[in-house]
Amino acid sequence: MLYSSPGSKYEQIKFLSEYGVQTVMKYLITGGAGFIGCHLANRLLREGHHVRVIDDLSAGDPAQLDERVHFTRGDVQDSPKLWTLLHGIDCVYHLAAKVSLPQSVLYPRDYNQVNVGGTVTLMEAMRAVGVSRIVLASSATIYGDQKRQPVDETVVPQLLTPYAVSKFAAEHYIFTLGIHYGIETVALRIFNAYGPGQKLPPAYPPVVPQIVEQVLNGGTVVLFGNGRQTRDYVYIDDVVDALVRAGEQGGIDREVINIGSGVETSVEELVRQVEAATDRPAHVIRNEQQSGGVARLLADLEKAQRLLDYSPKVSLSAGLRMMLAQDERYLRRRKGARAQPPLSE
Ligand SMILES: NC(=O)c1ccc[n+]([C@@H]2O[C@H](COP(=O)([O-])OP(=O)(O)OC[C@H]3O[C@@H](n4cnc5c(N)ncnc54)[C@H](O)[C@@H]3O)[C@@H](O)[C@H]2O)c1
Repeated sequence: MLYSSPGSKYEQIKFLSEYGVQTVMKYLITGGAGFIGCHLANRLLREGHHVRVIDDLSAGDPAQLDERVHFTRGDVQDSPKLWTLLHGIDCVYHLAAKVSLPQSVLYPRDYNQVNVGGTVTLMEAMRAVGVSRIVLASSATIYGDQKRQPVDETVVPQLLTPYAVSKFAAEHYIFTLGIHYGIETVALRIFNAYGPGQKLPPAYPPVVPQIVEQVLNGGTVVLFGNGRQTRDYVYIDDVVDALVRAGEQGGIDREVINIGSGVETSVEELVRQVEAATDRPAHVIRNEQQSGGVARLLADLEKAQRLLDYSPKVSLSAGLRMMLAQDERYLRRRKGARAQPPLSE
């Protein structure tokens, strides 16, 4: 059975904005105390919108949020809490997830429960309250190992980890339930995001902050595989720009859209760029026995350009410099690394 669409409020807001009438929007960001969520929440707030965040703080830190953000500690699987927070919301950004590929292999049940179950619970709560739009932070990890690069959204995914399975399932759940519940849905397949504030957990840290930290500390950078595997590193401001556009744009119901930089960088080149940005040498050792993951990953951005008018603005070298300049942790490390001879000498 099809439910009647509660999407009219969002349509009115869009209609008014097309005639130059600026409307204050109300957003809920799940996982909004995480790396991407904090940047998104603070940007929406700066633009004059109301922002609510729900995050269980399993990985997030609300200290990074603007104090005007309405923060609630809670689980995305907690329906009563969601009902309260969803009241009056125009658009939900669904970012709450467990995010480590290797950890998902060890604990697939947890990944299924939070990333898939949490998405379904959220969609049910949105139907109950009558919220008409959701933007899902999906992942380029879904593509797996693809011979043809750059990858566009039509390629058949190769789901290599439970994390990838969970993100693909979440995409399908929002699209399918969205049809039945009259909710507009869009999924952004984000490539390797990096920037200030990105967490550095002791286990399974993301590659960019890990290399930056190791170089600044004079530690050893271990390159797995042949070191030539490539990724598409996209600066956080570009990711947030795409998310904001996806929240506002009409005509993208049930679309999946790649969000990356459109530039392919090998991990060896990333280390060189970190050396240049920090002006410190990297002590590199290689472990060719252990896989460095898929050989190549590069975003085809034609669809993002066409549907969202998205084009990434920040190069890797500029992004690394901004990350170092804006993140207190790296400023402290840079002072501590003075004992190291600078690269340029
Ligand atoms: N960072 C990237 O490169 C990247 C790439 C592709 C997709 N994504 C997706 O973007 C989203 C945000 O990623 P991120 O890099 O900011 O990661 P993050 O770990 O910093 O943010 C995820 C947030 O979700 C919260 N969370 C986890 N389980 C929860 C639960 N059950 N209830 C409520 N909150 C919960 C965590 O506390 C954390 O603050 C995730 O969905 C991730 O899969 C990120």
